[in-house]
Amino acid sequence: MARVFVTCRVFPDILDRLRQAGHEVVARDAPGPIQREELLCGVRGADGLLCLLSDRIDAPVIRAGTSLRIIANLGVGTDSIDVPAARAAGITVTNTPGALTEATADLTFALLLAAARRLVEGDAHVRSGAFVGWELLQPHLGLDVRGKTLGIVGLGRIGRAVARRGRFGFDMPVLYVNRRPDPEAEAELGARYVPFRTLLAESDFVCVHVPLTPETRHLFNREAFDAMKRTAILVNVARGPVVDEEALVWALETGRIAGAGLDVYEREPEVHPGLLALRERVVLAPHIGSGTVGTRRALAEIAVANVLAVLAGEPPLNPVG
Ligand code: NAP
Ligand code: GLV
Repeated sequence: MARVFVTCRVFPDILDRLRQAGHEVVARDAPGPIQREELLCGVRGADGLLCLLSDRIDAPVIRAGTSLRIIANLGVGTDSIDVPAARAAGITVTNTPGALTEATADLTFALLLAAARRLVEGDAHVRSGAFVGWELLQPHLGLDVRGKTLGIVGLGRIGRAVARRGRFGFDMPVLYVNRRPDPEAEAELGARYVPFRTLLAESDFVCVHVPLTPETRHLFNREAFDAMKRTAILVNVARGPVVDEEALVWALETGRIAGAGLDVYEREPEVHPGLLALRERVVLAPHIGSGTVGTRRALAEIAVANVLAVLAGEPPLNPVG
């Protein structure tokens, strides 16, 4: 019998699959992030770890988990895990690619539309009783989306799903940036591979879908915002630190860009007070890219399947690194 430590609440019927396979499950049953000491304590003696992007699985945690065989992340981004340290310790790391692509692309587009059409401001306006009826020059006139240029920074699984929505749903020409061109995506979407600077200068909507790495940290800084159109909207559904939040607040406050739709934050769950104070064309979501019941269940199912495979001595379904 192996022991699996679970750092968060998970759908009980899915966790039961581990018990049905004869494993002991030690699952935390409290909302909010796990405390460091509890994490260090939990991995001691555990063979498997089921964790979240908000859990810092660094070298000390990996050293404490002397019997760990698998670290299964409930999500696709693995910047919270020291993957090289895990590999050096002989521990398999897995994630959940694909299962959350469509839900995350939907949320990206929801943020894009909500910021462009000032939906949250409009909602507050109606609820406050200030709505006095249709006028030609209403207070919440927004920006057009159809036919505008969509810039995708990171045309991978999610970036491509967002580009499809833009290209085929809203007739948007697509520009993209990757480290290398993707001819297949270009054929499907008619997307144009351009230098980062060109994408910034030509896009009306810039959607960020790169993983957080040393190369992408603060990719969006003052210089990047300065290169964007003043009418552009930034949508970040990737990782907070890809955007220098201080620079973003500056860009929004000074009108260097027109708005932002954000699902992730640089110091999550903390949100820059400057962003909280900005309401015009700024929409803030609480990291819910994959946040549908069906998708979150799928993530749990995949992570548990990875744990079961590795503990059975079989290859993992979704190895990372
Ligand atoms: P993916 O399929 O691996 O796509 C990532 C894309 O980024 C690839 O096209 C990659 O192309 C490009 N890329 C990587 N490094 C780059 C760099 N330095 N410069 C330019 N492009 C670069 O990943 P995915 O499944 O779409 O997920 C993307 C990210 O979204 C995840 O890592 C995660 O952080 C985030 N995410 C957030 C949520 C949420 O709830 N908000 C949900 C899911 C995922 P090349 O390899 O050619 O560079
Ligand atoms: C969510 O942010 C994920 O990386 O899956």
